[in-house]
Amino acid sequence: MYLSQITDGIYYVGVNDRVNTKFENLWYIPNGVSYNSYIVKGEKIALIETARDGFDGEYLFNIKHVIGERPIDYIVINHMEPDHSGLIPQMVRLYPDVKLVGNRQTMGMVKGFYGISDPDRFVIVGDNDTIDLGGKTLRFYLTPMVHWPETMMTYAVEDEALFSGDAFGTFGALTGGLLDTETGTDRFFPEMRRYYSCVVGKYGAFVQKALNKLASVRLGYICSTHGPVWKARVAEVVALYDQLSRYIPDDYVTIIYGSMYGNTEHLAEMMEMRLSERGFRDIRVHNASYSDMADMITDAFCGKGLIIGCPTYSMRLFPPVETLLNALQTREIRNKVVGTFGSYTWAPAAAKKLTEFVEAMGLTPSASMTMMQAPTEATEAEVARFVDDFTNNYMNSNY
Ligand code: FEO
Repeated sequence: MYLSQITDGIYYVGVNDRVNTKFENLWYIPNGVSYNSYIVKGEKIALIETARDGFDGEYLFNIKHVIGERPIDYIVINHMEPDHSGLIPQMVRLYPDVKLVGNRQTMGMVKGFYGISDPDRFVIVGDNDTIDLGGKTLRFYLTPMVHWPETMMTYAVEDEALFSGDAFGTFGALTGGLLDTETGTDRFFPEMRRYYSCVVGKYGAFVQKALNKLASVRLGYICSTHGPVWKARVAEVVALYDQLSRYIPDDYVTIIYGSMYGNTEHLAEMMEMRLSERGFRDIRVHNASYSDMADMITDAFCGKGLIIGCPTYSMRLFPPVETLLNALQTREIRNKVVGTFGSYTWAPAAAKKLTEFVEAMGLTPSASMTMMQAPTEATEAEVARFVDDFTNNYMNSNY
């Protein structure tokens, strides 16, 4: 059970997931994740989101604890991804008169995912439309592609509470306190970056549009679908989303390498030491065969410098690095100072392919090198040149 009153009439009824090990079956969640859902109680009752299928026991317990046997009048569907919409069919069965509130795109997805299509079931809303619950007013803002095309946000006017969907959400289950005034939230900030980079990262332009749309809205509370409810730290989380969605990087260098027998790793370590000599103090290094994809994407997405290297493998790139590059390409990362290094035994394909990959992302490598088989004394000079080129570009870039 996890219950908390947020304001007079707004309650949390969501659940923690400490069972599934990967969010979207992709992103590891060592500290779990919460599927947040809220009750807004006026004369009528609105439920904001539901939760993932399989968590119905605790979820229904929480709802009953807040509203008893009163019926739910509306389920507001800000986002249709099944981590939030999974219990809609069950709620419709339990509350047969409930109306589903969403936009036109939402309703198509409700039919597609759950086969619910009776026209009387739906209340279709557009930008700035409102629903009067009697003492509570809900206003809707369409915010497509934060994170899916149907995503929207709902604002409880009298309480100045924004139900923001995935925006401002974090990995990590709740641990007793719900509001950021009730629980320490520093640990959630890295998880907000990781959630953004992995899940929302491709859609920066749409996040910017949403932030502009909300610029004049007073945000007393941000109630996301994942993680704590923001109250004291609203300005911080909005600023972080603004930074991330404008692709403004943090001041650090990420090195990601693949290495089959240690020679390319040796080359990467020569680069690390040389970067350190040149004054870099935050260098994050990932062996692509062992680091988690989510951590590599997050460091690559958020940092200003990105150095990637690997051997040729069957005339292609070493597979873990190629997989990572595909993921970075999907997220349309930008504003990076990039270096690439390839290694090979008999076929010098990796360096060229790495450069092609990076250029296909719209980035220009500012340093590149290649190494045959194993480091030699000559390699040290090559690394020094590589790091000097990279450093000069890093220092002169205005990202
Ligand atoms: Fe929390 Fe886009 O789902």
